[in-house]
Amino acid sequence: MKLLIDDAHIEQIKKIYEFYPVDGVTTNPTILYKVGGKPFDVLKEIREFIGENSEMHVQATARTAEGMVEDARFILNRLGKNTLIKIPAIEEGFKAMKILRDENIKFTATAIYTPMQGFLAAKAGASYAAPYINRLDNLGYDGVQVAKDIHDIFCANDFETEILAASFKNSQQLLELCKYGVGAATASPDIISGLAKNKVVESAVEDFLTDFSKLVGEGKTMKDC
Ligand code: G3P
Repeated sequence: MKLLIDDAHIEQIKKIYEFYPVDGVTTNPTILYKVGGKPFDVLKEIREFIGENSEMHVQATARTAEGMVEDARFILNRLGKNTLIKIPAIEEGFKAMKILRDENIKFTATAIYTPMQGFLAAKAGASYAAPYINRLDNLGYDGVQVAKDIHDIFCANDFETEILAASFKNSQQLLELCKYGVGAATASPDIISGLAKNKVVESAVEDFLTDFSKLVGEGKTMKDC
């Protein structure tokens, strides 16, 4: 399962990239609003930092299919290789998806709340479909189960489309999808760093280091022995 950062704050992205094995960055219009400034200044800085081997997912913001396609070409032109255009899985979006597929422009179907949206997105040639796990949970549905159902639909129909699960509140939701082997998930920097932060683990490591200091002296490591 690929793991991406769902944020556009460059300092947070740099911090996660320094410590964790991640595969790219996803954004949406709300994420860009939270960062402020000119969208393409923010996006280009991210692209320069993550490099062209990392995926970047950027949403088209036009309301019509034709506008979404124009947005897609523009975004791709500005951000280059390995950029996927997020297209909302609504009526105009599906129309845009078919045009993008014919132009060989890669896209991620986003705002997926139902398995049938996922099915239609796959038929329209999406590289990814992004179900919103926590938002589904908040509506009283089981977001993880919806993502699993969509994954099953893709497998049963031999679609190449992968899940890009989004909108997480906790690492348990992410863990369930890791175990199921969905294609990708995107989560906030807090959720990603929280995957490994655990006082019990830190305490276990500290105990080892304290014992080693008692053996060889404070501040010494293996290279000093
Ligand atoms: O980009 C879509 C998804 O990441 C939204 O997440 O946290 O706003 O529900 P959230």
